[in-house]
Amino acid sequence: MATNRTFTMIKPDAVENGHIGGILNMIAEGGFKIVSLKLTQLTLADAKAFYAVHATRPFYGELVEFMSRGPIVAAILEKENAIEDFRTLIGATNPADAVEGTIRKKYATSIGENAVHGSDSDANAAVEGAFHFAGREQF
Ligand code: CMP
Repeated sequence: MATNRTFTMIKPDAVENGHIGGILNMIAEGGFKIVSLKLTQLTLADAKAFYAVHATRPFYGELVEFMSRGPIVAAILEKENAIEDFRTLIGATNPADAVEGTIRKKYATSIGENAVHGSDSDANAAVEGAFHFAGREQF
């Protein structure tokens, strides 16, 4: 059953470049309600665990180094059809393929440093949200 929730991270590149406000504004304008929010930083071990599903991919080392190099914003978002609508709002993984009006088109610089994460399923959204937020931090 759809939970109408998704999980997102504003990644280290976008935080370093001062885009937290711009991205949160696009999320709000997109009709998403913030139910959890924090500025935090992943350790290398955290990033390896979070992205364990990609452990055999050639970019895994680069991905976990990048994701742990500086602060991120983690958030749980709520909206009807949240998973699909948020993936539409963020745009293609590779910003070169992202359409106009998407977060990655505006803020991402490369396929590796692509500004934001969005869960790909209800099940993963629940796991990823629980990775960052205790139950009492989910409103
Ligand atoms: P995301 O969808 O958040 O989760 C997996 C991440 O792996 C993805 O964003 C990209 O940041 C990264 N990624 C995917 N493909 C590549 C690639 N070919 N090279 C480097 N990083 C990649």
